[in-house]
Amino acid sequence: MAIQGRTILFVSGPNLRLLGKRDTHIYGTETLDQIEGWIIQEAQKFDIDVHCYQSESEGDILSFLQTYGPDAQGVIINPGALTHYSYALRDCIQYLKCPVVEVHLSNLFRREEFRHKSVVAPACTGQVTGLGKLGYLAALLFLVDRMR
Ligand code: DQA
Repeated sequence: MAIQGRTILFVSGPNLRLLGKRDTHIYGTETLDQIEGWIIQEAQKFDIDVHCYQSESEGDILSFLQTYGPDAQGVIINPGALTHYSYALRDCIQYLKCPVVEVHLSNLFRREEFRHKSVVAPACTGQVTGLGKLGYLAALLFLVDRMR
């Protein structure tokens, strides 16, 4: 994969490949493929390419961000449970120069206490939590605005 022109990375962490099957009352019924396809289409309206990546592995996510992050104009990331404990992901986000938006489908603050803390949030430009898939669109629109 080569990054050319205006490109945003859309990264999803562990268990997000189960969207549409996992806790649908919390995360909704749409699959990750459907959400990614929708965001790719929305970004096309602004002449922006979106590169989507999902992994169950923290190391693979770090490698992806280290490799492609420096050439991207922005990152949308839902780190899944890595949000709550991955200092390695936080350091990696800190290394990137482009804006990074942390997105959670559910409202972390209405859930179990361990989800209230995001260790990656201080390294991110901002966080969207609890807006369902619209949170990804909000993140995209923010990044589009930053690219102007
Ligand atoms: C999540 C919230 C996390 O606490 C959880 O581990 C996820 C999904 C969300 O999108 O609401 O996997 O990031």
